[in-house]
Amino acid sequence: MRDALPGGKSLSYIPVDLSEGMLYMAASECDYRVAFGILGDFEDSFPFVRRTIEQRVFSNPKACLFTLLGNTFGNLDKGQASLLERLSLMMRAQDRLLLDVAVKGPKWSLTADPGGDVAGLLKSQPRRTWIANGIRRMLGESPPEGSGLRKWVKIETRSFNDAAGGGQSSLEVLGSHAFDLMITRDTKDLRLLRVCRFEWEPLGKFISNFFDVVGCERDVDVTDDGMVRSGAFLLSSRKAHSR
Ligand SMILES: C[S@@+](CC[C@H](N)C(=O)[O-])C[C@H]1O[C@@H](n2cnc3c(N)ncnc32)[C@H](O)[C@@H]1O
Repeated sequence: MRDALPGGKSLSYIPVDLSEGMLYMAASECDYRVAFGILGDFEDSFPFVRRTIEQRVFSNPKACLFTLLGNTFGNLDKGQASLLERLSLMMRAQDRLLLDVAVKGPKWSLTADPGGDVAGLLKSQPRRTWIANGIRRMLGESPPEGSGLRKWVKIETRSFNDAAGGGQSSLEVLGSHAFDLMITRDTKDLRLLRVCRFEWEPLGKFISNFFDVVGCERDVDVTDDGMVRSGAFLLSSRKAHSR
């Protein structure tokens, strides 16, 4: 990426994350210059993230490459359409967005998806702690950790068809099927983890409502089991060009 970008070695990286720990890790493990990071939620607090980028990053006309990697795009609370719309409105003509998404392989099925192993989810202590911490954050309460957690939360999988984000129309656009992991407690529905696996072509069409596809590559990093593969899109804002 460094070689491909104008500016080459003088690149700087600005991590954005809602987790202080992840923000710190991203900043300390990266070998670009990191002048600052943005601790914020790019879904719930998008205006804050946007304002910070506009004030502190767009003051320089140099092109920015926004990245959403590790299928973070498939793990959004407010849906993909909302984030793509906001990003395309914010980005300038010279900027690009790199999306790395999990794509269903030929043998993909809801039950065979390695990430859909809900029973296995509660087996390991690190996972249990991770779930308990997530619930704590959301509720500001203290759920029990370890063996008590299985009683405390009810876990169920169910399939859903809104992987493109937002209602009936996107259901038709994407025609996709992914999995949805819901963790519920009492009468409160807590969605802790929701991971989409996308269909390549419908996803490309969906994305092109917001962005021009500058380049794409499918089946990156194939794991050979035919379940889940990676795909990448390099995108340029449609809104920026029509402004
Ligand atoms: C799947 S990880 C991706 C990690 C890394 N990009 C990679 O490819 O290895 C998702 C990261 O995005 C962060 N994240 C998820 N939703 C977010 C949001 N709405 N606002 C800010 N950060 C978010 C998570 O805390 C986590 O660090």
